[in-house]
Amino acid sequence: MALNPDDTVCYCFKVSLQKIQTFCHTQKPHYASEISDCLSAGTGCGWCVPMLKNIHSQCCPPYTPPWRQGDATPIAEQTAEDPTNIDAETWGAGRQKYLEEKKAKKLTE
Ligand code: FES
Repeated sequence: MALNPDDTVCYCFKVSLQKIQTFCHTQKPHYASEISDCLSAGTGCGWCVPMLKNIHSQCCPPYTPPWRQGDATPIAEQTAEDPTNIDAETWGAGRQKYLEEKKAKKLTE
C-alpha cells in the first residue's frame, strides 16, 4: 500500500505528501534541498531526506546546471520506483527506529 496524499512525509514539521508534491509541481525546484522551502521539510532530524530526494526525482524534471551541460550524466537521475510506495505505518515506524538509533549512537560517542 502506498502513502496517501494526506500521509505525513516529514514528521518534524508535519508536512504531508500532497504538500510536497504540490510544491514540486508548482515550484519545480532544481534541487531536492530546495524542498526545505516547503514548510521546512527535511530540516529537522533528517529522516525524511531520502524520501524527499526520491519525490523530487519523480516530480521534477532532471536539471543540469549550465556549467555541467554537455556532461553525459545529469545530476538528478530519474528513478523507476515510486518512492511513496510504502504504507504510512511502515514509514512512521522507520522514523521511530531511525531516531532511536540516532539517540543510541549519540550516547556511545
Ligand atoms: S522527519 Fe523530516 S526532518 Fe525529521
